[in-house]
Amino acid sequence: MTHFRRAAAASAFAVSIAMAGTAMAQTVLNFAHSTAQNSHYSMGVQAFAKTLSELSGGKYEIREQAAGALGGERDVIEGLQIGSVELTISSTGPLGNFVPEALVLDLPFLFKDYANARAVLDGAIGQELLDKINENNLVGLAWSENGFRHITNSRQPINTPADLNGLKIRTMENQVHMEAFRAAGAAPTPMAFPEVFAALQQRVIDGQENPIPVITSAKFWEVQDNLTLTGHVYSPAIILASPSLWDGLSDEEKGWFAEAAKAAVAATRAKVEADEANGVDLLRQNGMKVVEKVDLDAFRKAVSPAYDTFVAKYGDDMLKRIQAAQ
Ligand code: PAF
Repeated sequence: MTHFRRAAAASAFAVSIAMAGTAMAQTVLNFAHSTAQNSHYSMGVQAFAKTLSELSGGKYEIREQAAGALGGERDVIEGLQIGSVELTISSTGPLGNFVPEALVLDLPFLFKDYANARAVLDGAIGQELLDKINENNLVGLAWSENGFRHITNSRQPINTPADLNGLKIRTMENQVHMEAFRAAGAAPTPMAFPEVFAALQQRVIDGQENPIPVITSAKFWEVQDNLTLTGHVYSPAIILASPSLWDGLSDEEKGWFAEAAKAAVAATRAKVEADEANGVDLLRQNGMKVVEKVDLDAFRKAVSPAYDTFVAKYGDDMLKRIQAAQ
């Protein structure tokens, strides 16, 4: 079954269902994401579901569709646009294909730490980008979080950018990330996340890069021996709704969804923090070798051509404003 048919079938299931024996008509909404059940995204979906159910007096029920059950992130965003999926939390990986203004967020070494990234996304710049998203047949409810990305691979410890030479690294389907890895000498291989574990297992690719909450929840230690804590890019996440859901809501209902999104962001960020605190130990306990001391200036220099390519194409207005907010 194609992802579109899978999504449409799930959604057909999810339209308004009159609850037998109660006056309340209950609407079941699919909330899709690519990471595992009980991951950082999953915690957000569960908090969203609880808040929305409480505020709506049980009118809305969320059905979590975890681990790419409705397809990869790009598929799901397309599903939102055509109305076959109602809600998602996604990285910005594929977002630039729909909203080019958001690509600036994918530049490596842009944000210095979590506090900086959250302040920018929760402030005026984040709101401006949400407005751009809303002009592109999507509804951006809130910026959430994936985390700082690090590199894993099955070939060798990566100590310097030279160790990346020729490595087949899976990247997201994102032109800025691909350009950065190409500039550093790797062979970037874009792929939807639900295909990554098998591709690593079959050695179609050597490595991948993702935040600790993803590496732990995907159990990548089963297929990857080495982790290098490059933190080479902060990966935002976004909670999106389908315009066809949103346009059918009253103003009061839109307020409930906004509150639910706030609860989701808080829960996801709390899980990211917990995973940042414990995740590297967990990966070590499961046999991964971890390179912690990394010459970040060398990696920053190696990926810097991605900035030139970006600025030549999109200008540096938003980039400079984000850099000024450090
Ligand atoms: O690598 C990705 O595609 C993303 O980081 C993921 C794991 C789907 C979370 O948004």
